[in-house]
Amino acid sequence: MSAVSRSLLPETATVSDGGVLSVGGVAVPRLAEEFGTPLYVYDEHHLRSRCRQAVAEFGPGRVVYATKAFLCGAMARLAHEEGLLLDVATGGELHAVLSAGVPASVCTVHGNNKSDEELRQAVTAGVLHIVVDSFDELDRLDRLHASGLPVPDVHLRITPGVHAHTHEYVSTGQDDSKFGFNLANGDAHAAIARARSASSVNLVGLHCHIGSNVMSAALFEKASRVMVELFAGTGLPELTLGGGLGVAYTGDESAPTMAEWAGAIRAATAGLPSGVVVRVEPGRSIVATAGMTVYTVGTVKTVPGVRDFVSVDGGMSDNLRPMLYGSRYEAFDPARTDATRPARARVVGKHCESGDVLIDDAALPAGVRPGDLLVTPVTGAYGHSMASNYNRVPRPAVVFVADGAARLVVRRETFEDLVRLDT
Ligand code: LLP
Repeated sequence: MSAVSRSLLPETATVSDGGVLSVGGVAVPRLAEEFGTPLYVYDEHHLRSRCRQAVAEFGPGRVVYATKAFLCGAMARLAHEEGLLLDVATGGELHAVLSAGVPASVCTVHGNNKSDEELRQAVTAGVLHIVVDSFDELDRLDRLHASGLPVPDVHLRITPGVHAHTHEYVSTGQDDSKFGFNLANGDAHAAIARARSASSVNLVGLHCHIGSNVMSAALFEKASRVMVELFAGTGLPELTLGGGLGVAYTGDESAPTMAEWAGAIRAATAGLPSGVVVRVEPGRSIVATAGMTVYTVGTVKTVPGVRDFVSVDGGMSDNLRPMLYGSRYEAFDPARTDATRPARARVVGKHCESGDVLIDDAALPAGVRPGDLLVTPVTGAYGHSMASNYNRVPRPAVVFVADGAARLVVRRETFEDLVRLDT
């Protein structure tokens, strides 16, 4: 197997004559030495350039960063600085964004089961709008208004009945979904009528999100056309068509580009009046390829005639995606980035489960030994944000690298952090 494809590496990645990988002008082995491993490394230029590409394609004020993909104070500020709005899906995400100094007025609020407290928090903070997901939520907003809460702008989340053809766990547009008001059974129309006549909400738009890691631009166009048909009759000013643009995780995958996604959305929405604000909510496609995880190899076990196991110092606590969705990754040694990868091994984590497999059958450089570094690229989305403390493993640090400097944006957890909530 050849060396890792450059297309899986962040934009500023360079490789020295000796094969050492640098990102943002900083050698990855140096980052590992300074900050320890496992370590999430983000290329700040890459993050910013993805934000800019999205804004260039869709227009200012029309790109909402889905913070669930990766959220910390530095990321919230970066997205805000680049002119993106921010979508939050829980009170905790809203709190994190506000704590970062980002104003509520650029935040949109999701969730299929928002609590009274979360709704109160969002309305009191003054968010841009709430995306209402259910009739129960409309009831809740009625009661909150009756108790004196101001009237929020809202969108209604519509389930358009379009299957995203991605992993079942991240498909949301089909009728059999916990999210939103179904179009097919009349709920969507009923919700629109109810929200229009309610004094507790100000209906400004419709929303849909068909799923995540969608690999076909045509599916976005299909769902958008369904939404446009519904939307056109309403005369509302705003339409949000969700996130979901997929990314390539391995050298043999290819995903639609941001421009292709925008083209699909433009084609579907071309007939709308020019004043209508059409928004999208990308998460993964902004952050995934900007980030990578650096591990240290701890043990190498050979079972003759069966396979080799290469154990790294993290695993399912820092990247749950292989276990949850069967997601595939690649690995390489950043000290010899250009080396071919003739060896095969199962790359596993340090957790007490046989299912703690990061890469089932990885192509690796020859002679991987304890102490070597291994990088899994394209781990910038839903890695850190879904990390856990399983087996009381402290969560890794996060560093942003740019222009030859690294800055710690999330410090590594300590053992003390692990017991700080015990009473
Ligand atoms: N908007 C809404 C309403 C969403 O629910 C999501 C993702 C997004 C936007 C952003 O989607 P993206 O552009 O990132 O695909 N943990 C899974 C992904 C779950 C996505 C949930 N919703 C994974 O690791 O693949």
